[in-house]
This record gives sequence, structure tokens and C-alpha cells, in this order.
Amino acid sequence: MTVTLGEGGTPLLRAERLSERFGVELWLKWEGANPTGSFKDRGMSVAVTRAIEAGATRLVCASTGNTAASSAAYAARAGIEAVIVVVAGAAASAKLIQVRAVGATIVEVEGTFSDAYDEAARLASEDGAVFVNSGGNDDRIEGQKTAAFEILEQLGGLPDVLTLPYGGGGNTKAYARGFEEAVSALPRLHPVQAQDRAGTHASAIRIVDPVHRSEVEDAVARSGGSVVTVSDDEIAAAWRLLGHEEGIFCERASAAGVAGLDRFAREGECVVCVITGHGLKDPEAVAA
Ligand code: F0G
Repeated sequence: MTVTLGEGGTPLLRAERLSERFGVELWLKWEGANPTGSFKDRGMSVAVTRAIEAGATRLVCASTGNTAASSAAYAARAGIEAVIVVVAGAAASAKLIQVRAVGATIVEVEGTFSDAYDEAARLASEDGAVFVNSGGNDDRIEGQKTAAFEILEQLGGLPDVLTLPYGGGGNTKAYARGFEEAVSALPRLHPVQAQDRAGTHASAIRIVDPVHRSEVEDAVARSGGSVVTVSDDEIAAAWRLLGHEEGIFCERASAAGVAGLDRFAREGECVVCVITGHGLKDPEAVAA
């Protein structure tokens, strides 16, 4: 049985004003429209479906917040437990409310995301538990690659450029896999990371050591793109542009792809920016 909340099938929105501003044909893949408000739901449906087939009674993950909200919801949907490991004080409070609202357990650790990840891996080695971080669970990537299939259908072909936020790198890897499986080619990939990975206000991508770094760098090189680094001020300005010029209220981290646009948008005519999560998830960042 498929464990689903109706994920995927999100809009690809033509961004008229941003197209004019950057001198390209710009599209926004609006992943905040997923059931728990982020792209994570695509992979979680596959991972939880497979975990149930394997007899799992508990899901375990480490998260900056969105994987947490998603795994908690899909676990509840499947009728099993979820245990979420977060760095104390690091996840947006609305994401933790999402987790508690569907009955999952939160474990806080001190330190960095890597410490949370190690603790989650340890908890996942217990009987009946399944690890649902994409670094240890390829089903997540399999689900997330469907966004690339949708873009191909929605545009009728490949865009020239695709840009998205770069945290652990699982999503970049998933898009690369999706495009290469479907059409044996890639758009120029520009994953965008925060300059201060350890301290960025874009809490969703506050990850010092990306678990998928080598696959991301390989895919970017194959595509003729580049890994782009932006400041928090540039992310904030891009976030504001998305709201004021296109009516898209996304979370801070989700604006990272747009923040790099003035550097690489003109590498092609047709540019897709993946907007990964909803603004209602991260109200503190906005208030600040
Ligand atoms: N955008 C949002 C809103 C995210 O939550 C994340 C990652 C990313 C972008 C980056 O994607 O890690 O595949 O490169 N969030 C993870 C989490 C780390 O725990 O929710 P990535």
C-alpha cells in the first residue's frame, strides 16, 4: 500500500516580473504547495511506503525541520512512530509544532547537524527502526527525482538552467538523477549555498558538512553549472523579491536559488528556480 498525503504535482509558475528583471524566461517550481509545505514529501512517501513493506515500526531522522515535519506526518499516516533528532534551538518553531501536531517525538542534541545525524543513525540501528535521512536512504532521492519529471512535462522539455538551495545536497542529486534518467541530459545546475553554512539565518540549510557533496559536485560539473555561494543579505533580498514581485511567500532558505540569479541567469534563456518550502514554516526569520 502506498503511504501518501497527495504529494507532488506542484505548480510551475511563470514569473513575469522576475523574468523582466533578469532578462530571461523564469519559472518557479513551487514546492511549498506539498502537503507538509516542502519538497521533502515526495521522497518521504516513497521511503515510508518501502519502510512499511519492510516491517518498520519506527522512523528515525535528523533534521533542520522540514524532513522532521514530513517524516512525522507520513509516519502518522502509516500508523507507526517517528523519532526526530534536531540541534537544540536550531529548527524553526513552526516546524517543531508540525512534528508535535502529528504525535512524533523530538530528541534535542547539542552541537551541529552532524551530531544530530550521528545520533539519529544510532537510534535507527534499534530493532524495527528505519533511517529516513537521504544520506542513508536512497528511496528519498527516488521520490524527490519526480520533480524533475514534472518540470520536463510542464515545460515540454529541459530548461537551460536550474537553481535550488543547497543544504545536504540530496535534492540536487535527485534532480540530476531525474533529468538524466528521463532525457539523458542536464540543465546547467546551480545549487546555491549560504556563505556562512554554520550560522546562516536560513536555518533549513544550516549544514556545515553536506552528506551528498561529492555527487553534487560531479553532477554540477557534468551539467556545466557551478556551486554558488551567497550571503544572508542576498538571500533576504531574494526572499523579499519573491514576495513583493511574485506573491510567493517562501521560507528563507527557499529563496537561495533566486539569490544567485544575477550571476548566472543569462547562461540560458529558460531558467527554473526551485522554491523548496512555505513561508509559514519559518515566521521568526521573517519577523527578524
Ligand atoms: N530548502 C529547504 C526548505 C530545506 O528544508 C532543505 C533541507 C533544503 C532546501 C536543502 O535541500 O539538503 O537536499 O540540499 N532541509 C533538510 C531538513 C536538511 O532536515 O529538512 P538539500
